[in-house]
Amino acid sequence: QDLRAFNTLGLASHTHAFVEIDDAAQLPALAQLAREYPGLLVLGGGSNMVLPSQVNMLVAHMRLRGIRLLDTTADHLLIEAAAGERWHEVVAHTIAQGWPGLENLALIPGQTGAAPVQNIGAYGVELKDRFDSVVAYDLHEESWVEMDHAACAFAYRDSIFKHHPGRWIITAVRFRLPRAWAPVLDYPDLQRHSALAAAREAGNVTAQQIFDAVCEIRIRKLPDPAVLGNAGSFFKNPIVDAATHIKLAAEHTGLVAYPQADGNVKLAAGWLIDQCGWKGKALGRAGVHAAQALVLVNLGGSSAADIMALARAIQADVMTKFGVVLEPEPIVVT
Ligand code: EPU
Repeated sequence: QDLRAFNTLGLASHTHAFVEIDDAAQLPALAQLAREYPGLLVLGGGSNMVLPSQVNMLVAHMRLRGIRLLDTTADHLLIEAAAGERWHEVVAHTIAQGWPGLENLALIPGQTGAAPVQNIGAYGVELKDRFDSVVAYDLHEESWVEMDHAACAFAYRDSIFKHHPGRWIITAVRFRLPRAWAPVLDYPDLQRHSALAAAREAGNVTAQQIFDAVCEIRIRKLPDPAVLGNAGSFFKNPIVDAATHIKLAAEHTGLVAYPQADGNVKLAAGWLIDQCGWKGKALGRAGVHAAQALVLVNLGGSSAADIMALARAIQADVMTKFGVVLEPEPIVVT
């Protein structure tokens, strides 16, 4: 099976063992089958993965569908979406139903089952802020489990699922949307957005307006994977301690930094890469997006080796100039 169409970077990749998951009842048997391979790789949209040219694991493509309102309480709406639903469709559906809360996460590529894995986040909201639980099949215990917020151990672009690849197959994600909705408008790009600014002045911002603004900003900055292969941000924004931040800010005018609740400071990796002169540049068939230096792109015919060679060159330059370690954000499959 050719996996080029199953990863948004569009990397040349191949597997000899490929199954589709169309029914949750398949999973116990799939878990048995996976024992005959070095591991199991569940693929959703493949939007946060660097696939090697040959995958030796059993590859399972998640296709479970369905979105429903599970419960309403005095404070919350509980929504359940199957893992194979496209994330953006879930966001769009909830907004259309008049269930606000996910609007800042519009237009993130990929499927719903992948959203908790890296705790997707954008424009001031992370999945964990709207999360209730996941339903998953545990391949170790060979049983169905429901994992709540604490069990998932969410952190910035991180969760328990990222640390135990192949252990759980997430089949559904449940969201807890507060009935007392309040817009989240702190992120600089939203502050600058003129249509939103007008609505904010008038005090009547709607979830639909935020949804539209986020879509517009993302389309401007981030390449469409259907046109130019990419996996969104290729590096995490690095977190440094306050002393390091003070030193860097003194040495580099314009350093973009966001103070964190714990006293540490998150730096904008895109800015660091941009300052190293990489924006719009290429190394072989792998490139750095011209509108957002944090996004690496497949210029055509790239393999994982090409992308990783570019990533290493960028990491080395950022280390030399700023002394800061950049960690890849997507899952690099080996
Ligand atoms: N910047 C530059 N040059 C660049 C890119 C960015 O100077 O080439 C500066 C920008 O001007 C801005 C700052 O860096 O001041 C931050 O840029 P931006 O607002 O575009 O966001 P980001 O920190 O680069 C993060 C997430 C994105 C998310 C946006 C919006 C990570 C690794 N990335 O990017 O998430 O959409 O914020 O919330 O946290 C993803 O994870 O795949 C992803 C796209």
